[in-house]
Amino acid sequence: MAIRGSIIKIAGPAVIAHGMLGARMYDIVRVGQEGLLGEIIRLDGASAFVQVYEDTSGLRLGEPVESTGNPLTVELGPGLLTGIFDGILRPLEAVRKQKGDFIARGAIVEALDRQKKWAFEPTVKSGDSVKPGDAIGWVQEFGFKHAILVPPTSKGGAVAEIKRGEFTVVDPVCRLTDGTTLTMMQRWPVRAARPAQQRMDPTEPFITGQRVLDVLFPVAMGGTAAIPGPFGSGKTITQQTLAKWGDADVIIYVGCGERGNEMTHVLDEFPELVDPRTGRPLMERTVIIANTSNMPVAAREASVYTGITLAEYWRDQGVKVAVMADSTSRWAEAMREISSRLEEMPAEEGYPSYLSSRLAAFYERAGRVVCLGQPERRGSITVIGAVSPPGGDLSEPVTQATLRITGTFWALDDKLASRRHFPAINWLRSYSLYTKLFRAWYKEHMPADFEQKRDRAGALLQREAELQEIVQLVGPDALQDDQRMIIETGKMLREDFLQQNAYTDDAHSPLLKSYGILTAILAFYDQALAALKRGMLLDDILNLKAIEEIARMKDVPTDQFDAYLKRWLEQLPSAFAAPAAQPAAATG
Ligand SMILES: Nc1ncnc2c1ncn2[C@@H]1O[C@H](COP(=O)(O)OP(=O)(O)OP(=O)(O)O)[C@@H](O)[C@H]1O
Ligand SMILES: [Mg+2]
Repeated sequence: MAIRGSIIKIAGPAVIAHGMLGARMYDIVRVGQEGLLGEIIRLDGASAFVQVYEDTSGLRLGEPVESTGNPLTVELGPGLLTGIFDGILRPLEAVRKQKGDFIARGAIVEALDRQKKWAFEPTVKSGDSVKPGDAIGWVQEFGFKHAILVPPTSKGGAVAEIKRGEFTVVDPVCRLTDGTTLTMMQRWPVRAARPAQQRMDPTEPFITGQRVLDVLFPVAMGGTAAIPGPFGSGKTITQQTLAKWGDADVIIYVGCGERGNEMTHVLDEFPELVDPRTGRPLMERTVIIANTSNMPVAAREASVYTGITLAEYWRDQGVKVAVMADSTSRWAEAMREISSRLEEMPAEEGYPSYLSSRLAAFYERAGRVVCLGQPERRGSITVIGAVSPPGGDLSEPVTQATLRITGTFWALDDKLASRRHFPAINWLRSYSLYTKLFRAWYKEHMPADFEQKRDRAGALLQREAELQEIVQLVGPDALQDDQRMIIETGKMLREDFLQQNAYTDDAHSPLLKSYGILTAILAFYDQALAALKRGMLLDDILNLKAIEEIARMKDVPTDQFDAYLKRWLEQLPSAFAAPAAQPAAATG
């Protein structure tokens, strides 16, 4: 029996309805004559507080509010890749075509195309018994053998009949002996995490091809990272670079725009990106969820859950998924706006008291898992959330709440950005809590001294910053030669190692190459210190051609790099040995 009440208050994107006794939290409701989509976010006796996903202008008191009895669910199945959707998974194109430029109010638009046929290839036969999460067959979707899975909510059972051939996502492809039919599509409530068989520890890094991240501040495969940064410091570019080069099979990009044009930028640019693995459009393994600021805030609130649900669906395929949320601050602001419209007691800076728990509920859905069902599959979701703290002030509530949850913190710095040090990640303020968990992985995949070199680089950069402060106060003459050498090495680390231009061939640096450049810088530093001790003049050291050669190492093609570095390291001592003859030494 449908629960039907009426509107007693309208406050922007929120309405309060009475007569809603029996309705449940997070039930989807239809609001007003037009049947606008909304969701119950608080219940107080017979009063329901509803956030409306659509523009509420024109609604009147007394109009009906009817509960559908179901939570906000999304459609999952083949056909999501390349899609661009709004916060509740309505395809933006389809809605535009249907009703002009804006999402029509009350429009019901299915996420998955009902006409498109997919060639379904069964992998079980009648008589087989299937359990929740088991694959029953697959379809080809771009580069993926997209497995069709028994929904986690199904009881499973014995297969009575299974078909082969061309089907739409709503055609039954399999019937169980108890009469249950299975299609290629399933639905899932976005606020609930999809189950997995087992969660695994984050013991492997998510390799990004970015030296500063991979070497100094790695995020785990299945881990979480926050990128806080002021306006224009590189949040979006960093996420796009990671979408392109990060070790993920599927990218879910959740864009919560502040300004309409910011999202337009993403919508124009993303479809142009080329997948470096295949040379094909990156969109073939991407789904975009886009909320511009002119869309209702409630849809923005829902969008991160929609995004993470899609990610879980793909994780359950046994692939690596990366979720990019840009920016979670706009999402938190949506929450704040709705909360204040509902006159809830505000906590810090007007954000609701449940800000942290909502953020946690989102980030906790990252992870590496053994998927439910057979055949055995392992998948992961790595979540990278941008935060835009007003004025770059990292002490504000959204940044603070985020850094209590995430394992990696990449602090973007507008001073670095204005000096065109990109990626503008502040090496003194950023951190990764994962590195200790990667020990075994490093042992297996990296030279034995990788961690030691990483720690030395971190310590040298720290020391350089301290010495720079002294220089600021009393001038460079106060420093001794070995201290000046630290400053010079810090400069090399910053310019030749940490800096990486997203628009050149250096956009991607394999981890072994990153390690190699670091090795070169540290070798130079060690030999310079020894030379100083032997009485070589600092100025002569700083004139060595090897310094220029280090600066050019990032441009050495990856396939030639090992041989280049080996020769360079062999020749380096001779450069220090014969300063007078040095122009001839250390040439690559
Ligand atoms: N890795 C990089 N390599 C080269 N240039 C970069 C890099 N990162 C950022 N930039 C430069 O900085 C500009 C701003 O970056 P971006 O748009 O990502 O900032 P943002 O933090 O997302 O800004 P907003 O607050 O407006 O969303 C870019 O247009 C680009 O010129
Ligand atoms: Mg941006």
